[in-house]
Amino acid sequence: MRVCVIGTGYVGLVTGACLAHIGHHVICVDNNEEKVKLMKSGQSPIYEPGLSEIMQSASKDGKLEFTSDLAGGVAHGEILFIAVGTPALPTGESDTRYVEAVAKGIGAHLNGGYKVIVNKSTVPIGSGDWVRRIVLDGVAERQQSLVTAGGATTEVLPENHAQFDVVSNPEFLREGSAVYDTFNPDRIVLGSNNKKAIAMMQELYIPIIERQYAEDKSLPPVPVVVTDLSSAEMIKYAANAFLATKISFINEVANICDRVGADVTEVAKGIGLDSRIGGKFLQAGIGWGGSCFPKDVSALVHTADDYGYEAHLLKSAVSVNQRQRLIVVEKLQQVLKILKGKTVGLLGLTFKPDTDDMRDAPALDIIEHLNRLGAKVKAYDPIVAQSGMRHGLAGVLVETDPERLADGCDALVVITEWQQFRQLDYAKMSSLMTNPVVIDGRNFLDREAVETAGFRYVGIGR
Ligand code: UDX
Ligand code: UDX
Repeated sequence: MRVCVIGTGYVGLVTGACLAHIGHHVICVDNNEEKVKLMKSGQSPIYEPGLSEIMQSASKDGKLEFTSDLAGGVAHGEILFIAVGTPALPTGESDTRYVEAVAKGIGAHLNGGYKVIVNKSTVPIGSGDWVRRIVLDGVAERQQSLVTAGGATTEVLPENHAQFDVVSNPEFLREGSAVYDTFNPDRIVLGSNNKKAIAMMQELYIPIIERQYAEDKSLPPVPVVVTDLSSAEMIKYAANAFLATKISFINEVANICDRVGADVTEVAKGIGLDSRIGGKFLQAGIGWGGSCFPKDVSALVHTADDYGYEAHLLKSAVSVNQRQRLIVVEKLQQVLKILKGKTVGLLGLTFKPDTDDMRDAPALDIIEHLNRLGAKVKAYDPIVAQSGMRHGLAGVLVETDPERLADGCDALVVITEWQQFRQLDYAKMSSLMTNPVVIDGRNFLDREAVETAGFRYVGIGR
């Protein structure tokens, strides 16, 4: 099928490349010319395992194109994905101005033929109908522009030029495994009250529904949840809010474990074996960050407030999470007493491993707090060292390898559970430190191994 994806960020680019990989002809539109140039040269502007390979092969097959020309993209696609960012405003509500700009742009370029307009971006509940109205505003503005001052029409639009329906198709992609998650989804959610639009979306996803690109092709077909627009939008928010709350729950348990001498990793294993709970998302530590959980949970709380309901549970999950980041600083103070003038080395900076994303990364709050307490902060992160990215890292000495990081440090803090941190030479690192202590902010290291290497080990709830 002919597809246009507008917005080539973590979601749009992965969606476009994967749809091209399964045989559709995809044009990706982005208003950032630099990005378009980079993608045309076969490079991915984001770090996502497996993405650049499928981008290059799909582009070579002529199935994947990149442009900043929205009109061309809209003319090409029978299915148009809106995948621009919906960041959180300071008030906590979603900033939907990019979605509005793109929806209006689509309306202004509809040129005939029925189209399905898909909300891939996470948009506030009830936005589906709002997007419809914005698209129609774009259509009206264009019609207006074709009428001269004297009332003559300079161009007659084809009869069916504004035939479209809006579908909500929320994404559940985890950064660092977005390509894998696209080909191995637990479910596909489609929200619309139009049968034709739903049918076209199901046709689009057939290869994925039939597990043709799945790791385990013997699994039954992917369940497709077909519902109304608002329920589909709510499924996205409720899923993220539940996962975020589950993490804050285990972090609360970890904080109690710290005080009673229990081991939260054993507790997580013990409760996770209950099929009603499940073992995933029970890793206690410095909590959640990234471009989704913080923004989506606050957007849901904001929506509840808008409709006169106070979401106490979600607000508590947020406040537990905010406080959780600073627990590693409290533990540093317990160990080092005075932090002023001390040197602290951070192992990892990104909000999770296998991504280059620093958006709302816990590291940013921890750095700010340590600086405020007068500590000198050094850091090593595999991606940051490689990319030289400096977002939010003013005042941080970013080292190019873990041993240079350890040299002269009073303490190390594990911020991101990069797999390679399991294989470091901790004996060498402890010999380079004045006070070999490690605060394991992700309960990730092998406690015995680092203690044998000469470190004092401090975990979160263990
Ligand atoms: C995505 C989803 O859109 C968001 O709803 C979800 O919650 C997180 O993941 P993301 O892909 O991270 O957001 O957005 P971002 O990385 O900001 O990329 C958005 C892209 O859209 C950028 O490349 C930007 O240049 C482009 N864009 C933005 C347009 O092409 N047109 C615009 O008008 C605005
Ligand atoms: C999340 C959702 O998983 C995904 O379905 C949705 O589409 C987008 O948001 P993402 O934010 O990319 O994906 O990463 P995820 O792996 O969910 O981790 C989110 C945060 O929770 C990270 O900061 C991670 O460190 C933290 N986390 C995760 C924990 O602290 N403990 C856990 O057990 C799991």
